[in-house]
Amino acid sequence: MPAKRDGFTSTFGVLLATLGSAVGLGNIWKFPSLTGLNGGAGFLLVYLLATLLVALPVMIVETMLGRAARANAITTFEQVAPRSQWWWKSIGWMGFLAALLIMAFYSDVAGWVYAYIFKAISGEISTTDPKVAAEVFGKLVSNPLSSLLWQWVVLVVTGSIIMLGVSKGIEAVARKLMPLLFILLLVLCARSLTLPGATQGLVFLFSPDFAKITPAVMLTALGLAFFKLSIGMGTMLTYGSYFREDQNIPLTATRVMFADLSISLLAGIAIFPAVFALGFEPAAGPSLVFMTIPAVFTSIPGGTVFMTIFFVLTAIASVGAILSLLEVPVAILSERFGLGRKRASVFTILAIGLMGVPAALSQSLTAELKIFGMNPFDLFDFLSSNVLLPLGGILICLFVGWVYGLPQLEKQLSNDGKLHNQALIRTVYFLIRYVTPLSIAAVLLHGLKVF
Ligand code: TRP
Repeated sequence: MPAKRDGFTSTFGVLLATLGSAVGLGNIWKFPSLTGLNGGAGFLLVYLLATLLVALPVMIVETMLGRAARANAITTFEQVAPRSQWWWKSIGWMGFLAALLIMAFYSDVAGWVYAYIFKAISGEISTTDPKVAAEVFGKLVSNPLSSLLWQWVVLVVTGSIIMLGVSKGIEAVARKLMPLLFILLLVLCARSLTLPGATQGLVFLFSPDFAKITPAVMLTALGLAFFKLSIGMGTMLTYGSYFREDQNIPLTATRVMFADLSISLLAGIAIFPAVFALGFEPAAGPSLVFMTIPAVFTSIPGGTVFMTIFFVLTAIASVGAILSLLEVPVAILSERFGLGRKRASVFTILAIGLMGVPAALSQSLTAELKIFGMNPFDLFDFLSSNVLLPLGGILICLFVGWVYGLPQLEKQLSNDGKLHNQALIRTVYFLIRYVTPLSIAAVLLHGLKVF
């Protein structure tokens, strides 16, 4: 008998925890900056297709594998198909690496969010002037000491949450506060949409120019779809291992996908009309959100207070996502190497801290350290989102479609016949056997210029 594992206790709790992993800086920071960098509506369209046709089926089967095995991302593949080839286990190891790579830059961005809480309070970012906004952001990220310091604050805060085992409490608080973030986003949207000259932003966001959809743009959109739903590296698998037997997996995944999508879209509508109305540059990249969101708040009476609350809530939202990222290496280290949760957490945080140094210094000391033309920050992001996650997605689909097989998939996704969702299961089966892996492979090879 394996040791009794922790688990989620209610169906609704499962939904919220999964949502807590999906929603994070990906919605508020990554989605808008990539949409701006990749030409707007065309990118959004590909992202929507990738989410529905690729990411959702992967999310369903990845979660299912975890619940079937009730184990970490490596042990699961041994457990579910004991006689299968060793290389299926590489999915777990790739996930381990992806988690560290993602955390190396994610903790950096979370650090900027923490820093912006204090900048909001001091009034330093209460400006609608693009030049001033760019200066404030530039000063923060180009200072090696402050970049490293804020990253370490994030790592110490989230590391202690994992070590002290208080993550459930924190997540409970986070969940209660998330409706407030939603409301603040609505307020931002209302303000942004009523600024003079806002329509141009809506055109940018919703009227696609198909010429801008290049293979590289498609790969970035696919990578974002994986990143957003926390799939392709074992996070959803590990969360699935804590799911209840009576949880409707396809329904839960679909709900999380829609909720997550709405938050990203709200962030987009809050940002792009203001970008055009106030004269910001849509292709500003990682700095976009940190300049425009304060600008929109500055155009609202009492904006300083709202702005502060907004950055506090974003910081809290990032905690749920970070905990789910840390869970993958921590579960592997503690369950497979018998390290104990505390030591596994310390190792993980130290490894991320080391890998995080070049990422955090990407706007200063390591800016010229280019590999494939990218600084370490961009490289880590590219390798994890655009290479490792899609690769993991292909392997998960092939494993479930060709090794695990339909009878077991039906049993698992219908909760042993209790749910009457045969047609849905067959659709998922067809997708993950052919459509999903082939489309991921095509986009991946094309985007990486292999052919
Ligand atoms: N989905 C989260 C976000 O959008 C980030 C995240 C959490 C993640 N766990 C993950 C991304 C696992 C990839 C894989 O902010």
